Amino acid sequence: MNSTKKQNTPINSNIEHWEKQANLVSWYKSPKTILSTNDSGWTDWFFDGELNTSYLALDYHVEQGRGEQIALMYDSPVTQTKQTFTYFELTELVAKFADVLQKQQVVKGDRVLIYMPMIPQAAIAMLACARIGAVHSVVFGGFAAKELAVRIDDARPKVIVSASFGIEIEKIIPYKPLLDNAIELANHQPSSCIVYQREQLSAKMNSNRDHNWQILMDMAKPIAPVSLKSSDPLYILYTSGTTGKPKGVVRDNGGHAVAMLYSMKNIYGMQAGDTFWAASDVGWVVGHSYIVYAPLMAGCSTILYEGKPIRTPDAGAFWRVCEEYKVNALFSAPSAFRAIAKEDPNGALMNDYDLSHLQRLYLAGERLDPATYHWLKDKTQRPVIDHWWQTETGWAIASTPFTDENCNKLIPTKAGSAGFPVPGFNVEILDEYGKALPANQQGTVAIKLPMPPGCLTTIYQDEQRFKSSYLSTHPGYYVTGDGGYIDDAGYLFIMGRTDDVINVAGHRLSTGEMEETLSSHSAVAECAVIGIHCALKGQVPFGLVVIKNGVNESDQILISSLKNKVREDIGAIASLKDLIIVERLPKTRSGKILRKTLRQMIDGQDVDIPSTIEDSQVLTELSPKLT
Ligand code: COA
Ligand code: AMP
Repeated sequence: MNSTKKQNTPINSNIEHWEKQANLVSWYKSPKTILSTNDSGWTDWFFDGELNTSYLALDYHVEQGRGEQIALMYDSPVTQTKQTFTYFELTELVAKFADVLQKQQVVKGDRVLIYMPMIPQAAIAMLACARIGAVHSVVFGGFAAKELAVRIDDARPKVIVSASFGIEIEKIIPYKPLLDNAIELANHQPSSCIVYQREQLSAKMNSNRDHNWQILMDMAKPIAPVSLKSSDPLYILYTSGTTGKPKGVVRDNGGHAVAMLYSMKNIYGMQAGDTFWAASDVGWVVGHSYIVYAPLMAGCSTILYEGKPIRTPDAGAFWRVCEEYKVNALFSAPSAFRAIAKEDPNGALMNDYDLSHLQRLYLAGERLDPATYHWLKDKTQRPVIDHWWQTETGWAIASTPFTDENCNKLIPTKAGSAGFPVPGFNVEILDEYGKALPANQQGTVAIKLPMPPGCLTTIYQDEQRFKSSYLSTHPGYYVTGDGGYIDDAGYLFIMGRTDDVINVAGHRLSTGEMEETLSSHSAVAECAVIGIHCALKGQVPFGLVVIKNGVNESDQILISSLKNKVREDIGAIASLKDLIIVERLPKTRSGKILRKTLRQMIDGQDVDIPSTIEDSQVLTELSPKLT
């Protein structure tokens, strides 16, 4: 984020490719330098270019004559609400909310934290920040007050934007009390909060600090986007690492804009006027990139869906949305389709809807298991494209191109594979010493530097963690944290995380963080949390705890209080599937808990017992409890 940069000589052969892609973006000042290194030695894309992301997503399309086209469609089965916004209307609302923020003294570089459910105001707030160069940090609504407080303390926002409540199927979740609680827990205090009062439930306001969204909007005047440097940060998005402290992934404006536009055309095959639906949440990277920024930058119509794949009202919900908005490409997590397949195994509800506009389906967030891949392909008779990426990269590292270079032939997808590295990502499989492995051998999936545009620029205020998490293990490479292999034909298979991160229904969670939460309970001596297999959610967390001597509570009470603690401190999305009390945990002689061995025992797989085990008797004792 330092502004004094030195120019570098081009360092890879992709320069021309990215220069060409950058020319498709409407910069205020076109970049002359495509790739350079900044003071911390990391790559800077397009560093002398100037642009505004909100302009590219909104005003630009109005100028191009798309003002009357629908930009955003809000569909909320949980509140029975539908609303559409043209590019003209959305621009006006964003420009006014930018004024609201400015009147709250928000200036370029200030952080604005957004803690909101899936309502249009969340996207409006994000785009308004981008308009004035404020850095937004959206926190997923499923995180509890304590998690929110950790993010408030790290991002130190001047303003927090929230809403009175969110809805989970039939359960109302009041956001405002969670926010009040988080602010009480945090050391940093925002100067103000702006709260969108939803019709069904109004939040109690704190007269010294809270403002009503609508009242401020009624007094606002639309303001113009400001010119920003390519390297100016657009947002911080917290994601789970291996410790209790989440990592604040920082994204720039310039590289992000180029990557978003490139991916819409070349990965998703979308053109201006098409309808793109990412059935995710704005609190996750998929929501940032493919509900808000990329579809709008590409002049598409995007859908903000406040509902679930099932039970809102049934397993035909996705197909209903596809018909109603003539969706051309649908993107969601495998868990969503596993849930649909469970409720409607024959895909009968699909037949109730006209899916003639739907061309392709995209899956990410967790591994697409072959059974779900085949089910989806068979039932929809459409290409089902698994693609692999992370919060850190912001867009797909690997995917299967749906046409060849001449745009006329379908490349076959392969069940279980996330496809081929996308141009710009130089993917290699490394052994533990950093040596590249041959085809079909499983190892660490790494990306040879430099990373393409759009990837993280650092970890917010923690350059050291950025380097130690991703760059120091194998110099010259970014280590993804995933394990996998590339087969003879070049298809990449991502087999799972190699660290303490797990994926629960496409939500990335840290078992290390859950362990820290359990350990902070006064009765716990030590604990382990592992991700075990779940047929619906891919993985679910499972806890093992050793209770301190002298604790007199019954096991039943302890288990329920520990499970509740995780829900209350982290959020319901991190609910432990199960928790058992054990006498001892299996460890190596150096004291490391044998998490992999425990996972294998619970999942019923062949168990690797390391030769370094301290006492194999522990496993024998545990066996009846785990199998
Ligand atoms: N705000 C508050 N609470 C939330 C929430 C949010 N935004 N999202 C989830 N929760 C809560 C749920 O209410 C539930 O609470 P409960 O245990 O009290 O019932 C808990 O967190 C777990 O939610 P979820 O993981 O959604 O499980 P589910 O059983 O309600 O639904 C699926 C299962 C598979 C239908 C659902 O997980 C799903 O749609 N998965 C796809 C996920 C996805 O799109 N991921 C995006 C990555 S691309
Ligand atoms: P997140 O940062 O929340 O997007 O989670 C990123 C992680 O999700 C990756 O590091 C992978 O472990 C997993 N993931 C995402 N997409 C895929 C995929 N298509 N196949 C396998 N794993 C995936």
